Amino acid sequence: MKIMVINGVNLNFVGIREKNIYGDKSFESLCNGIKEYAEQKGVEVTLFQSNCEGEIVDALQRAYFEGYDGVIINPGAYTHYSYAIYDAIKSISIPCIEVHMSNVHSREDFRKIGVTTAACKGQISGFGENSYKLAIDALTEYVK
Ligand code: DQA
Repeated sequence: MKIMVINGVNLNFVGIREKNIYGDKSFESLCNGIKEYAEQKGVEVTLFQSNCEGEIVDALQRAYFEGYDGVIINPGAYTHYSYAIYDAIKSISIPCIEVHMSNVHSREDFRKIGVTTAACKGQISGFGENSYKLAIDALTEYVK
């Protein structure tokens, strides 16, 4: 099973930005944690991060062309307004799980709107790095 983990806008600033919300672990260490967990589960993982909406759409299309079994995506703030990412997720017909490190439902009102969420199988929100690990478990169960 091969999955792509896509991190969107500002996620590369984890460990620097709003540490009270996202913690003080660096983005690199977040990525290493995801890779290690996927390896333990026997899942092949490709990680991708971009601050550009179009590059995230390109990554989703790449997942389609390269035959990925699933996608885990944290679009960052694009979650709340990107119709382009919504359309891309819908287009590729690969199961996609949306994750958030913070609980988006307990924060500002604009974060309660999930434009991209509606294109995904489900959402895991509020568990920091563990949100990604829970998504790997959910995706492997779903794809089985
Ligand atoms: C986030 C939540 C978003 O609302 C925010 O814009 C982010 C990070 C999260 O992982 O909690 O950049 O996606």
